[in-house]
Amino acid sequence: MSALPSPAAKPPTILVIDDDAEIRYSLNRVLSSRAWQVAEAASGEQGVALVKKGPPPDLVFLDVRMGGMSGLEALQHIRAASPKQLVILMTAFGTAQTAIEAMKFGAFDYVMKPFDPAKVLALAENALKAHADMRAVGDYKPTINSEDYKEGIVGASPVMQEVFKIIGQVTASDVTVMITGESGTGKELVARSIWKHSHRAGKPFIAVNCAAIPDNLIESELFGHEKGSFTGATGQRLGKFELCDGGTIFLDEIGDMALATQTKILRVLQAGEIQRVGGTETIKVDVRILAATNKDLEAMVRSKTFREDLYYRLNVVRIKMPPLRERFEDIPSIVEFCLQTLVKQRKARATKVAPEAMAVIARHRWPGNVRELENVIYRSAVIAQGDTILLKDLPAEIREAVGLPASVDGATSSSNAPFEPPASPAAPAGAAGAPLPADPGSPPALTMETALDFVYAQLSSADAPILPRLERELAARALQSAGGDTAAAAKLLGLTKAAFQKRLT
Ligand SMILES: Nc1ncnc2c1ncn2[C@@H]1O[C@H](COP(=O)(O)OP(=O)(O)OP(=O)(O)O)[C@@H](O)[C@H]1O
Ligand SMILES: [Mg+2]
Repeated sequence: MSALPSPAAKPPTILVIDDDAEIRYSLNRVLSSRAWQVAEAASGEQGVALVKKGPPPDLVFLDVRMGGMSGLEALQHIRAASPKQLVILMTAFGTAQTAIEAMKFGAFDYVMKPFDPAKVLALAENALKAHADMRAVGDYKPTINSEDYKEGIVGASPVMQEVFKIIGQVTASDVTVMITGESGTGKELVARSIWKHSHRAGKPFIAVNCAAIPDNLIESELFGHEKGSFTGATGQRLGKFELCDGGTIFLDEIGDMALATQTKILRVLQAGEIQRVGGTETIKVDVRILAATNKDLEAMVRSKTFREDLYYRLNVVRIKMPPLRERFEDIPSIVEFCLQTLVKQRKARATKVAPEAMAVIARHRWPGNVRELENVIYRSAVIAQGDTILLKDLPAEIREAVGLPASVDGATSSSNAPFEPPASPAAPAGAAGAPLPADPGSPPALTMETALDFVYAQLSSADAPILPRLERELAARALQSAGGDTAAAAKLLGLTKAAFQKRLT
């Protein structure tokens, strides 16, 4: 067993754990061709001891089949001692079982024996790049406060702050609220928030998706029915309005409600009473109505497919949910919120997103809004091997949507084929053993265009005009980089001193 070189010293360090001396020798030769520092351990026990003793290597190659401690056992010990340790498992048996077990126990990847040297090098390069990316992101520091977690709605953008204000205003009364907005913007979340903060919080909240229930059933669903009122009505049944007495009903997708049902909803709103289908008795109900739609109700009123009187009744207060593309600045906190929720539910381990991946997330238009973002984060977090979502972990269609190739780093994307070793060797790294410069063929990390997209999104969501704010920010930065010399800073920006000073104020 050889001593591990210090990881502080370049080049990166790799530990090979295998009880077969020949394999250790050949792997060492392949890896040393890149001038990486390679150490060896002849058993699982030795390898675990080396990692525990520290400093931990940047990467471990670990054999699965060994006498004594097995590779999977060693992997668990290593991950317990050093949770972020990247490990590539080596196996002679390429079964789905091994692959699944390997990834389940937190291996970064696996490689099958006998090795193809080019594949080994490509795998090691990928892993070392991931290691460097994760280190560059730093440790996770929570920025979301616990109040947001309780609420379940994240957003510091001015548009979302407006939404929160209106929620606050409508909780004291029983006023009807119409929530509009594209799919996935958080309409149901807002409805629940209104209910949770209202005096009806202790009573039921029932959501009815009007689009999902056929027209001939919706009235029975909402108002109940009497025995024998229609074929199949074998007994009396209470509807949502009766079940929800004292509580709040959320009529989701109200734009899809049939005109006949609309009339009956109007009656609840005007008189606070219902009749079961096939019944004659008038029943008083005390229910607050919240409604939502992503349809253009005004146009429906004009085309007489939505009752005008109901429209005015429902639309007493309107909350318009902004699409996610109009609140780009909320994306990082929504991402953090999703990741924390997944960690709490023990569905994933990742707590951070690498800058390159974040830049892609920031550039996407998110037509499916928060629901789409949430879904992408979930899929990526499940795929991510460490505590950080990397560019390669994002679904291929998201990378493609912002103009990046579906696969990155010359390797098969792990989200497309999670258990397949890279298909082709990565382009050779620049200087052998250097801390892996960006592959010239790989997408740029953070381009000017991406940065400007971010800045533009931030500035355009505030109500102040964009250009003066941008100019003020640039002037302040120029002054800083000119060491406080106004004339030099003005020159940097191509302005006269007077024009420069005007922009500073
Ligand atoms: N601001 C937010 N912060 C955190 N999570 C959010 C936020 N907005 C929405 N979500 C989450 O996004 C998903 C979609 O939200 P929701 O179901 O409320 O959207 P919707 O507008 O009702 O969509 P649809 O029109 O498709 O029914 C939910 O899982 C919700 O928890
Ligand atoms: Mg909804």
